[in-house]
Amino acid sequence: MAQTDHNDIVPAIAEIAREAGSLLMEYFRRRVLIEYKGEADLVTEADRKSEILIRERIRALWPGHDILGEEQGFVDTGSEYRWYVDPLDGTTNFAHGFPVFCVSMALERKGQMVAGVIYDPTRDELFAAEKGSGAYLNQQRIHVSKTDNLAECLVATGFPSHKRHKNPNIFFYHQITLRTHGVRRAGSAALDLCCVACGRFDGFWEFNLNPWDTAAGVLIVEEAGGKVTDMGGGPFQLNSRETLASNGLMHASLVDEFRKIFSGHGLEPLPEIAK
Ligand code: IPD
Ligand code: CA
Ligand code: CA
Repeated sequence: MAQTDHNDIVPAIAEIAREAGSLLMEYFRRRVLIEYKGEADLVTEADRKSEILIRERIRALWPGHDILGEEQGFVDTGSEYRWYVDPLDGTTNFAHGFPVFCVSMALERKGQMVAGVIYDPTRDELFAAEKGSGAYLNQQRIHVSKTDNLAECLVATGFPSHKRHKNPNIFFYHQITLRTHGVRRAGSAALDLCCVACGRFDGFWEFNLNPWDTAAGVLIVEEAGGKVTDMGGGPFQLNSRETLASNGLMHASLVDEFRKIFSGHGLEPLPEIAK
């Protein structure tokens, strides 16, 4: 397929993501040898092998496309097509044997995201979206939740492995926990976004994510009827380092909570442990 046939694009990406997912599961079953890339940044042979496989498959099908992958970086040849690849999102979980991780792949054309696929091989769940055609989980149409009350929301967040001490998120985690049914921190931003898309979560936010973490998931949330912006409610940008996703109904309330927290609200002294 030298030309990019948009009708066939999602099934073709899904096949590659499933193949990479099977490879990850082989390593997962035999508990990989863990290597350390930096403080609390676990990198495994599986990350690298998965990216090699994905790059080979993309190059074979679409030789002229550019690829930005987490492990091998990016060479810009000026193609109008650009892939965003996270060959293993949830590396820390993976390395510890905690079964929450996935493969994330997205395709952009002329700066606009056209397709995204996220595959969770532990549950055999394949999330997919094509711009303008809705979002799907294992070929069933999915939609965001209908929750419209902050107190009844289940939301999710994540913490980066780099420079954790410089990340303000623990304050947000604290405040949003007090105002909702709870905040989950499962360790895969791509799957967190999928959970917003299919209504398991009502919202998700994180600081300092990278384009390969968000590219596919943001399209899947939007195609499922949700909304993604920066923390102030402004347009989401892949390089903005601020991601706030929701079912849309909760968006204004979440932006308002973030505004209050940014302005210092809720930074009370540590309470005593309740007896
Ligand atoms: C990480 C996961 C995690 C998020 C981190 C990411 P990785 O990606 O998405 O949920 O909190 O910010 O870096 O390193 O497992 O690909
Ligand atoms: Ca990631
Ligand atoms: Ca990764």
